[in-house]
Amino acid sequence: MIDLHQIYPLSMDMVAWRGIIFTIFILNFVLACQLLLLQPLVSASEGQPVKADDYLEKAAQSIKVKRYSEALEDLNAAIEADQTLSEAYSRRANILRLLCRYDESEVNYSKYLELKPGNAAVEKELSQLHQARSALETASSLYDSGDVKKALEYVDKVVLVFSPACSKAKLLKVKLLLSSKDYSGAIAETGYILKEDEDNLDALLVRGRAYYYLADHDVAMRHYQKGLRLDPEHSELKKAYFGLKKLQKKTKSAEDNLEKGKLRLAVEDYKAAIALDPDHVAHNVHLHLGLCKVLVKLGRGKDALSSCTEVLTIDEEFIEALVQRGEAKLLTEDWEGAVEDLKAAAQKSPQDSSIREVLMRAEKALKLSKRKDWYKILGVSKTASVAEIKRAYKKLALKWHPDKNNDNREEAENKFREIAAAYEVLSDDEKRVRYDRGEDEEGMGMGGGGGGGYGFGGFDPFGGGGQQYTFHFEGGFPGGDFGGFHF
Ligand SMILES: *[C@@H]1O[C@H](CO)[C@@H](O)[C@H](O)[C@H]1NC(C)=O
Repeated sequence: MIDLHQIYPLSMDMVAWRGIIFTIFILNFVLACQLLLLQPLVSASEGQPVKADDYLEKAAQSIKVKRYSEALEDLNAAIEADQTLSEAYSRRANILRLLCRYDESEVNYSKYLELKPGNAAVEKELSQLHQARSALETASSLYDSGDVKKALEYVDKVVLVFSPACSKAKLLKVKLLLSSKDYSGAIAETGYILKEDEDNLDALLVRGRAYYYLADHDVAMRHYQKGLRLDPEHSELKKAYFGLKKLQKKTKSAEDNLEKGKLRLAVEDYKAAIALDPDHVAHNVHLHLGLCKVLVKLGRGKDALSSCTEVLTIDEEFIEALVQRGEAKLLTEDWEGAVEDLKAAAQKSPQDSSIREVLMRAEKALKLSKRKDWYKILGVSKTASVAEIKRAYKKLALKWHPDKNNDNREEAENKFREIAAAYEVLSDDEKRVRYDRGEDEEGMGMGGGGGGGYGFGGFDPFGGGGQQYTFHFEGGFPGGDFGGFHF
């Protein structure tokens, strides 16, 4: 056996010792580095005050730019690092109040006041919290009971003043704006909410609703769809989406049926569409107008009238509705009403010749309605023969002869005059034709006064008889058959 220690005792000494010294040197260096580098870390986890203040500082920066959730995280960390850091509690309480997380905020304020009793500023903040919390509760119940205006005041003047980052209050405000029909206000408010949180489903829903009530259905649809992509089971979004779909479908069907002349079906569709959402005035105004039009076409004047009136209650400036209501009134023989509506329409739209045409038609009908109805006066039908007219005249003239009505002479004279005038027109072929055509002609009984212009002049219809009765009328009574008529 060879003893290696004995063979190489010297070489071992030389090489090994150098290596050992070098190794010790390296180890020392590493240890020194370790001590230098790790020292701060060790002391940081032990020396809490430094670290907690850092978090506090970070939180302050986040609060400045309104990143409240980040600020909260830092404050939580600060408090975890130092449970007695009073400043962190008050800041946390403040943020929680801004966010209207009132219960948590309240405990944090209390915790602060426990550490620093009697701080007036924080006590004031705590009382603002109480005001804001109760105002939010009041506003919610006012909303439920329908007192929109008051609720809005609570939200605007209290809740959002002390809790400007309260999304619950913001959303309530938007709902209130929607209830008070301030749709552009609701759109603006939801715009702010969505800018901070573009996936806010409630905001998407309410904003969609606002566009819906403005009858901007495509934009409303896009909001509902975006919301449903985020949450396909959101029941209110689903309801809004399918409700709008249905309304669009019914409306289209009504319009198609009207166009195709399927009037009765159109009536049903319009009625069904209106019933889908009676509050949707911006859209329903068109549905009521469509319904009115169809009803006019069907000759259902009374129903058409009420549909058109519905339109004009919503928008009294709606020219087309005025025209259609004029038509409806013609159907119900309300000539004056028709002229009134059509005049209003023509005034609003002086260039529209079709309105002028209907107006002229109405004016003529009104005039015709005012003239005397000779047929009625003689008690004959419009198709009566000459012989019938003559017979009727004779009978009535006999009955109303003033001499035979001494007790009511004046009435009899008037009647007699009227009967004679009726006979004058209806016994003359040419005049009768013109009268039937409704031609406006002096002496055709136009203008309400009637009769007065007719006279017998020198002609005495009762002449030849024993009793003399003289009429003092100008003009001439056409003789014709009259001459041969004796009593
Ligand atoms: C303070 O607010 C936090 C929420 O950020 C909550 O967890 C905590 O319970 C509140 N109260 C105290 C005494 O810290």
